[in-house]
Amino acid sequence: MAAMPAPGRELPIAVFDSGIGGLTVLHECLVSLPHEDFVYFGDTARFPYGDRDQDELIDYARELSEQLVERGAKLLVVACNSATAAAREALERELAGRVGLVTVVGPEARLAAAASTNRAVGLLATAATVASGAYARALASVAPDIELHAVACPELAPLIQAGGEIDQRIVDLIEAGCAPLRAAEVDTVILGCTHYPMVRPVIQRALGRGVEIISSGEAIAKQIAETLAAADLAAEPDRRGRYEFLCSGDPAEFRELGRRFLQLPIAEVTRVAVAEPRTVAP
Ligand code: DGL
Repeated sequence: MAAMPAPGRELPIAVFDSGIGGLTVLHECLVSLPHEDFVYFGDTARFPYGDRDQDELIDYARELSEQLVERGAKLLVVACNSATAAAREALERELAGRVGLVTVVGPEARLAAAASTNRAVGLLATAATVASGAYARALASVAPDIELHAVACPELAPLIQAGGEIDQRIVDLIEAGCAPLRAAEVDTVILGCTHYPMVRPVIQRALGRGVEIISSGEAIAKQIAETLAAADLAAEPDRRGRYEFLCSGDPAEFRELGRRFLQLPIAEVTRVAVAEPRTVAP
């Protein structure tokens, strides 16, 4: 974790993601830390990140971080698994001494290590996240005895984002993704993609009731609270925080789709320009 400078208790916590999926993480943060202000940046113009290569994702993560830090933030949160898997180390180096950094992956790995009794843990994630090996490294560093069974579900996040309904295509993709995890008899599964909490009941049904599911939101909210407290940057607990939204794509579409993911009202959404995508989204 990068070192944090002292001032800025009144500044917001900045969160970014490849699009609207990170709103499942923001939801938990708003519930757990209602006294904090948040600014959320969804890179909807370049969604999805999950099939992009690591160098491209590092560039995007750098660009979004710089924009948010320049606007003023007391903590930067990377809610996107694909971006974290590619860019965490680069961001840690580059933001050290400027702003504290909290990312997904590590907190979920720690929760999974604590939850698993048979030491067989599953991961459902995008192709970029699985290919990066970030979860395997995070788990190996906290629990080397755990065997990780990782399954990439390339089509799932875009399908969840596109559909209003949970349809049979989604159910079939989830059944296919969970089959190797059932065969490996994992007792704990990490949802390594921001979109997957939206279909958690389908995943739980495919895995069986006895399998523990770990998602990012709660783990991240706890990590943010601890990081702010350690740096003496927490807002006054008796105030009510504000939250605002930036996106690189269409603000109306963000508002429309985002409500489903956030489960809280979304008022203003401001469009912010970003560089053209380096590759055409698959
Ligand atoms: N936020 C992304 C992730 O967690 C969602 C999927 C994507 O952009 O492909 O990986």
